[in-house]
Parts: sequence; C-alpha cells; structure tokens
Amino acid sequence: MNTPGFITSDVHVASRILNDGGVIGIPTETVYGLAARADKEESVGRIFDIKGRPRNHPLIAHLSAVADPLQWGFFNVHAHALAAAFWPGPITLLVPKTDRVGDWVTGGRNTVGLRVPSLPITQLLLNEVDEAVVAPSANHFGKVSPTTASHVAHDLGSDVDCILDGGQCSIGVESTIVECVNNLVSVLRPGAVTAEQISRITGLRLVSDNSESRAPGMMVSHYAPNATVVLVASAEEAQSKAHAQNLNSGEWALLNNHDVEQYALTMYDLLRTFDIQAKKVVFAVMPESHGIGEAVRDRLRKAAAQG
Ligand code: TXA
Ligand code: MG
Repeated sequence: MNTPGFITSDVHVASRILNDGGVIGIPTETVYGLAARADKEESVGRIFDIKGRPRNHPLIAHLSAVADPLQWGFFNVHAHALAAAFWPGPITLLVPKTDRVGDWVTGGRNTVGLRVPSLPITQLLLNEVDEAVVAPSANHFGKVSPTTASHVAHDLGSDVDCILDGGQCSIGVESTIVECVNNLVSVLRPGAVTAEQISRITGLRLVSDNSESRAPGMMVSHYAPNATVVLVASAEEAQSKAHAQNLNSGEWALLNNHDVEQYALTMYDLLRTFDIQAKKVVFAVMPESHGIGEAVRDRLRKAAAQG
C-alpha cells in the first residue's frame, strides 16, 4: 500500500494516481509543479487548499506535445508563432480560453495559461493523461519554488498523493509568461525564453506589464525565504552591509554567481539551504540582465519585497 507523499520515478504509477483524481508533485524543466487533471474540479480545488493560494489566482494548464492546444485556447498569429518556436519548452502562453477550460482553472478569467513542458518524463506523464494537467509551482503560496522532488516532499509532504521524481530541474526558475490577446504580445513574467527571442519571432516591440491585475500573484512579495533578502550590487557591498548591521558570519549568507544560467539553476536550492541554516539575512548580488539574468533579477526583487 502506498503512503501519501511517496516519491516514485514510475510514470505509470503517477499517471494512474492523476487519472484517479489525485494531486501529485511533478517535475518540469523549470520548477516542480503541484498537479491535477484540469477537468476534475474537486482535485483542482485541493491544489489551492494545499498551497494556501487564493482561488482567483489562475493555474497554468500543461499539455502533451501531441495534444491539440486549440482545444483549450484561441491562438492569434503571434501565439501560433511562439508555440511553433518554443514548445515544448519553458514558455507559457496566455490566450483566450475555450469552453473546455473550467472556471476553476482560470479563477473566472477568460484567458488560460497553456504550456507544453519539454522534460521527457513530464511528456511521458502527460501522454498518459487524456486531459490538460494544471500545475502551479509545488510550494506554499508566496514561498520559494521547488527544484527537486525532495524540496516538494519537504514543503508539501503528506498533503500530496505522490511525487514523481524527475531529478533536478534543468532551468531552475519558472516559465516565461507571455500574454497573446488582441494582437498584442506582453511579457508578464520573464523566464528562460527572453524578450529578445520573443521579439524576434513575433516581429513586435514588446509591451512589458507585470502588474497585479494582469497576472495575479505577480506584484506581491513572492519566492520569499524565511531570511530577509537584501539586494546588493557586489560581494563587497554585502560584506560592508553585514558589518554595518553587526551580523556575525553565521547569521548571513551571500547569493552570487557570475554565470546567469548557474545562478538560475542554484538560486532556489541555496535559499532553502540558507533557511535550514537559519540565516537571518541573505545578501543577493543582482546579476546582469542578459539571457535568463532578467528572470533571476525579477525573482530576487520579489524575494526581497516586503509584505
Ligand atoms: O514554470 C512554470 O510556469 C511552473 C511549472 C510548474 O510549469 N508553474 C508556475 O505556476 O510557475 P504558478 O501558478 O506558480 O505561476 C503562474 C503564474 C501565476 O502568477 C498566475 O496568476 C499566472 O501565472 N497566470 C496563470 N494563468 C493566468 C491567466 N489566465 N491570466 C493571468 N495570469 C495567469
Ligand atoms: Mg508559483
């Protein structure tokens, strides 16, 4: 008999639990998700309860690469082009929803976030589910996203029916979110797919709008560890701030990496480690904004935001 929250690498076991209405942790190339079948309203409701997330915060629907995304959303010319260029991959397209998508997925909005993840084990799982699979990041609301199965077990443990182990996520920050409605294209959350790449594919200059009304959960403090996160420009600035605040070396930690991809890959795991070490303050050096650096900067700003 399986105990709740058990970790498995057997896709068939995980898909059976999903199809039976279970709520499970799933790996993706970005971060781990907390997943349920989109058509099972009660199971989707459990996701909000487990996370402690407001019901009006919409969920991303994940699709198999062989599914027809037009069953879930209406794609304008730009959405078509972006899907062709970047799916499967770390980009979520917000498009007008079809009737197939329940209001319990979108928080009553008329758009839906769709994503085709690229991680092979996730695709195998999605292929065994004849429906979209909704999944927010598998952490408590407002906290640091998980990038390994054991992070999910640590945060949500026995609240989930199982966790599918796909190893460490290869990107480490959440997908780029791009709204494609009324022939406009706006980046609502930066990620591994950059604004430059999106501009190149669509031929558009981009509107950047990450206001709370466009995508709930964007503006408030988010991705936050227990420690206070302080943004700095250099390791030297961190040193002198720690000194000025009379912090001893056990009380603070430095988050820094010159390689933006490595920064993204290790950031959440390090923030979790610093919490286990009960650090009071984490000084985070802001990386350069090229490539995925923009996404790292965005998450660090939110981790540092108060309230
Ligand atoms: O990489 C990712 O995107 C991960 C993995 C698991 O796929 N998922 C993820 O989900 O980060 P979540 O729920 O933690 O963040 C999705 C964000 C939320 O802020 C949500 O409000 C917004 O996307 N969102 C989703 N659908 C939306 C919609 N229809 N309209 C506006 N915002 C939407
Ligand atoms: Mg999240």
